[in-house]
Formats: sequence, C-alpha cells, structure tokens
Amino acid sequence: MNTPRKLHIKSYGCQMNVYDAQRMVDTLARENFVETDVAADADLVILNTCHIREKASEKVYSELGRLREAKTDAAREGRDVKIVVAGCVAQAEGAEIVRRAPVVDVVVGPQSYHHLPELLRRAERDGRAIETEFPVEDKFTSLPQPQPAAIRARGVASFVTVQEGCDKFCTFCVVPYTRGAEVSRPVARIVDDVRRLADNGVREITLIGQNVNAFHGDGPDGKSWPLGKLLHHLARIEGIARLRYSTSHPCDVDDSLIAAHRDLPALMPFLHLPVQSGSDRILEAMNRRHTVADYHRTIEKFRVARPDMAFSSDFIVGFPSETEQDFAATLALVEQIGYASAYSFKYSPRPGTPAAEMEGMIDAATMDQRLAQLQDLIDGRQAAFNAACIGKTLDVLFEKPGRRDGQIVGRSAYLQPVHVMASTDLIGQVGPVTLTHIERYSFFGEAPAPAATSHRNASLSATTGA
Ligand code: 5AD
Ligand code: SF4
Repeated sequence: MNTPRKLHIKSYGCQMNVYDAQRMVDTLARENFVETDVAADADLVILNTCHIREKASEKVYSELGRLREAKTDAAREGRDVKIVVAGCVAQAEGAEIVRRAPVVDVVVGPQSYHHLPELLRRAERDGRAIETEFPVEDKFTSLPQPQPAAIRARGVASFVTVQEGCDKFCTFCVVPYTRGAEVSRPVARIVDDVRRLADNGVREITLIGQNVNAFHGDGPDGKSWPLGKLLHHLARIEGIARLRYSTSHPCDVDDSLIAAHRDLPALMPFLHLPVQSGSDRILEAMNRRHTVADYHRTIEKFRVARPDMAFSSDFIVGFPSETEQDFAATLALVEQIGYASAYSFKYSPRPGTPAAEMEGMIDAATMDQRLAQLQDLIDGRQAAFNAACIGKTLDVLFEKPGRRDGQIVGRSAYLQPVHVMASTDLIGQVGPVTLTHIERYSFFGEAPAPAATSHRNASLSATTGA
C-alpha cells in the first residue's frame, strides 16, 4: 500500500463547516489521505471558508499569502503541496479566488465536496480546477436580515435564506445549541430579495435554512405562512423559472409543501430529505421523531404529487449502539428509495450533545467499513439514476459558457451538469435537452431546437404569470 498523503483542513465560521470538513476528510480517506493537525506537514491544505463573518474573505486571502510561502518552502524540499479553497467564500467568489491568489489549485463549493478526488486529479492535469455552481445548502450562514452579499446576483442561480436555527434537537447535532432556536424571516423581506435577484437576471432561487421546511414566517396578511405557501407566492414573481429549498426535516413536511410540488412546475422535483438511518431503533435514539415507515409514506406523497420526483439524503453510520442489523436496515432503505445522490458520514461525538454521552461507541474499523459499504451502495445508485437519464429529454437551465468553444453548460432539475453545443444567447433560459452520454458526473446532450426553446419560453411565462 502507498504511504498515505497528509491532509490539513482549516475551517472557519459556522458549525456546519465542521461537518463539511468531516465530509471532505471522509471523501479523501478513500484516496489514501490521512488528516494531520500540522499544516506544515500536509500535502494537501484545505481552507474551509465562511462567507458571513466580517472580512471573512480577506482573512482567506491573508491565509493564502502565508500558504504561498509554505508551498514554496515545501517545493524546495521536493514536496508538492496542493491548496484547496472550499466553503462559502469559494462558492461566492469562485474564479476570483485564483485570479487574486494563483497559488490555489482547487476552488470547490459546498455542494461538490464529493467531487474532490476528481477535482484534485483535474488540477494535477490542467493546473487548476474550479467547481462552485451547486447551490449552497445549510451552511450558507444566514441572518434574519441578510447582508447585501448574501443576495447579490451571481449568474442565473442564487440562494435566499428564509430561516435559521433548529428546534429539533437530534441527539447527535450541535446546531440547536450553536445556532439557537428556529427563526423565520418575514415573507415580505424574502419576496423583496427574490424580486431584486430576478431583476438582476437570476432565474433559479434556492431557499435555504438549517431546517427550511420548519419555515413559518409572518405573511403580509398577518398570519404565519408555511413554506408551501411561500413557494406558491414566489413562483409568481416574474423571471423566476425555478425554485428549490434545502435542507428539510421529514417531520416538517406538511400538506402545503406537497401541494406546492403538485401545483408549481417551477418547483424542481429534486429534494434533499435527510433520513440519517434506516433503523427505527436508531432513529429513536437520534430523536428524529419519525419511523422508517413514516419516511416511506412521506416520500410516497411527494411521488404521487410529482411522479418525476427524485431524492437525496444524509446518513450517519456508527451512531452509538448501531448493530449490524441496524446498519443493514440503512442499506435496505437506500435500495428501496433509490436515491439520486446521498451523503454519508461517520458519527462523530459532539461535546454537549446527548449522543456524546451514550453507551456503545462503535470502533473506528467498523465505522470505516460501514461508511465504505454505504458509500459504494450510494455511488452505485447514483450511477444507475444517471444512466437511466441517458436518452431522456430534460429541461436544462443554461448557466454559462462551457470549456469548449461553442459549448454552454446548464443544470437539469436534478442538478446534473449538462453540456450542449449551443449559442450563449440561451444562457438564462430553460430549454429541453436530450441527454446523449455521460462522462463521470457531466452529461452531454443535443442542443434544443429553436422551436422547442420558444415553446419553453411560453410555458415559462405561464408558470410565472398570475
Ligand atoms: N456526526 C456525524 N454526522 C453528523 N451530522 C450532523 N451531526 C453529526 C455528527 N455528530 C450530519 C447529518 C446532517 C449533516 C448536515 O451532518 O447527517 O444531516
Ligand atoms: Fe441538527 Fe436535527 Fe436540526 Fe437537522 S433537524 S439541524 S440534524 S437538530
């Protein structure tokens, strides 16, 4: 076996970044990286950045200045050190980071951490790799009144914070302690943000919050509005072609949300609905407040409302006292739901959380083995989901020029990147693309025929009109 390479992650900002750091460590462990606390020893340094703190990005640039020296020193000793900028600054600033700090090899947004091994290979081959298109989820640190930066339009897809904090108290999770009680923003403010973004060319909005479907913001009628009602309202804003929301708790799925999926073509049929485990015993120990059967029923409701619905999830392996039988139930659930994608994590005790005091800690080797087995299963399901898309015609929101001349890139409803040979005039529009083949995670398809495009425009105005 090759000598493991060393990985150092420096995380800034909110607690979600701590989990993201773990997600990156777990992903890279499969590439034979081991974590080190000593930055100077590392072959790979990841700055897991936070966007919300004042001058957060400036802190990143000064840290990158220090890393440039460290990288030069290492090069003198014949060691090649790679530098990755991850997190919300990466998401917000993208290519600007490498312009200002050419020392950076990879820029990766929070939705793409599972692509890190591939991005590192791409950086090795092409000198650099940047992947920041995916919507930011929970870690897009929110404020009841967002900073202007949080609602600045960057391209055709943007994020709007609708709630912060969580009252669920899952026994493994620090969020309710670190981020406090669930707070929803008033509807009027959210509508203002979305209008402003739409006026600036944004076509896709992802509503974000740690427990987004617990949203209950004050409506203009003086009543508290559920998320489904908010989505109905936002879908009428001119220019908004697509809506998404993340991250949801299965218990907070109500009839208004199901109705929104039934009624709103603009609401994308792709939902991140973390279940964490497929065992009722573990779900109870986690205080998830629902059973596996409840979760199946909820998924079924979405599928009835919107037959083309696909799902992703988070899973924790090695929760205290998790038996082989419990773990097998998680594998079975993954098979049954047939997720389009999913994240899995090794349980890590968080000081101050109830689970950290529980008996029956799972040993590291078992944890590693379960994680690898679950990730293999998820990878297989994702590959099957992607393979089943080949030959289908899916709507794509065109976002930017592709790497090749004459090529543009967009996203399907399921967030799959789709490349077509077509005019950049289509950027900002939604058009049908017949998917012809896939290379790794990127799809290639045939350009929409002009007639099909105008048809889509017609249906767009129908969905955004009264
Ligand atoms: N250990 C491992 N994973 C955790 N998550 C949250 N807390 C922990 C923990 N203590 C995972 C959950 C959650 C995701 C954001 O992070 O799967 O959905
Ligand atoms: Fe954490 Fe559970 Fe709240 Fe999600 S629902 S933020 S896992 S306490």
